[in-house]
Amino acid sequence: MKILGISALNHDASLTLLNNKDILFSAHSERYSGVKNDEYLSHKIFSDCFRYGYPDKVVFFERPYLKKSRQLYAGQYREVLNRMNLPSKYLKKFLPHNITYIQHHTSHACASYFTSPYDESAIVCIDAIGEWETCSIWYAYGGHLEKRYSIRYPNSLGLWYSAMTQRLGLKPQEDEYILMGMAGWGTIDEELKYHIRKDFFKESPIPINLTKNLHRGCLDWDCEFYPDDGTDEWKFNIAANVQSICEEEITKVFELAKRLVPETSNMCYGGGVALNCVANSIIAEELYPSLWIIPNPGDAGSSLGCASAYLGEHVNWNNTFLGYDIKGRYPIKKVLDELYQNNIVGVASGRAEFGPRALGNRSLLADPRGSYIKDEVNKIKKRQEFRPFAPAVLEEQAHTIFDMPVKKSQYMQFVAKCKYPEKYPAICHIDNTSRVQTVSKDDNPNFYNLINKFYKQTGCPMVLNTSLNIKGQPIVNNYHDGVEFSRKYNVKVYS
Ligand SMILES: [Fe+2]
Repeated sequence: MKILGISALNHDASLTLLNNKDILFSAHSERYSGVKNDEYLSHKIFSDCFRYGYPDKVVFFERPYLKKSRQLYAGQYREVLNRMNLPSKYLKKFLPHNITYIQHHTSHACASYFTSPYDESAIVCIDAIGEWETCSIWYAYGGHLEKRYSIRYPNSLGLWYSAMTQRLGLKPQEDEYILMGMAGWGTIDEELKYHIRKDFFKESPIPINLTKNLHRGCLDWDCEFYPDDGTDEWKFNIAANVQSICEEEITKVFELAKRLVPETSNMCYGGGVALNCVANSIIAEELYPSLWIIPNPGDAGSSLGCASAYLGEHVNWNNTFLGYDIKGRYPIKKVLDELYQNNIVGVASGRAEFGPRALGNRSLLADPRGSYIKDEVNKIKKRQEFRPFAPAVLEEQAHTIFDMPVKKSQYMQFVAKCKYPEKYPAICHIDNTSRVQTVSKDDNPNFYNLINKFYKQTGCPMVLNTSLNIKGQPIVNNYHDGVEFSRKYNVKVYS
């Protein structure tokens, strides 16, 4: 049976097509429409998906009327009354099928558990908002999931983090990772943290217990103890302490999971907050070394989540290269020639990654050793200068260069201290950490061969790897996008 999972009408729309346990297709709508975080679907993504088969069953990643009940509570009357945001109406132009609905957090939990290597596992999901739930803890065994705890709107760690992202002048529900990057430049101060906490969190052993509803942000908020003086220093310090509080709240949730799910030490983690790789590293180091996170834990990954929930068993998870296919041989030699000449070079080859990180098939690559490289790549990508780039390192060499909190980090989900930051300035953050991607032959044989050849020639077992996109735009999807990128930004892109 072919099952089509759909995530849409929220943000980051996506499609997943399963043929029983095999994942035939998983892709983001934004890559086809060119609209970053596109909440809508298009005929383009549907027709690419249908090249892999036509669905027998259609499943949607949340329950629309349950969501409307929360919107009614929140006073979002226009959303409540709008019938065109009902999936049954909206999807008619694409499909004639009846739709089965799965709850939002069930989709997150299933995306994580059914792609994991575990038969028995605890599951934690933390996000901003779906229907009502914002955090849930589960026990899963033999394909059955049992919810043991949940936190509901308006208590939401994701909403608070997004509100703080907006307060710092960034785009909520999009730029949260920039706040996380800014945090490294600030100073953690217990007194400042106390005052931020006092404004937003009740003193409580229960995690994520907020003093106010942050659905509409907190643009009018200022810290009495440390008022906004309009400087970058203020923003960096607030970011550092916000990130630290976020880590503490996440830790509380996982400590609770330890108590509520004593049967197993395995852990699957989902929801948009699982993109916070600094917090992920703390959880892996301190509480759950066996932490599994799907490379697409946010709402986009829920198209796979709801489809696998309907299937009711583990899918055959091999890797994340599940999207649009640029056919042809992976251009190892051409890319290496550019890297040897110290050029920044793009690669757009094979199937696109399902998830926000480019992991070798839609990547912008560079030699990580030059001190000027970071500024050069930032200039091309039009990013803030303070932001670091990630290294893609041969898996067997990762532990010689980084203090890894986990054995492997094939989806760039964990940070690690670099042992030689002076040697690799382009991939080190201000605190000498890096968001590491480990690359093995199994994960991506072509990318592995490329890095291995680079290692043999230069003695450096890694390359700088960032997504092939410009800030605020989706990652390159097809061959023509690659040509356009090359023309616009004067960087060679090989397919
Ligand atoms: Fe979500």
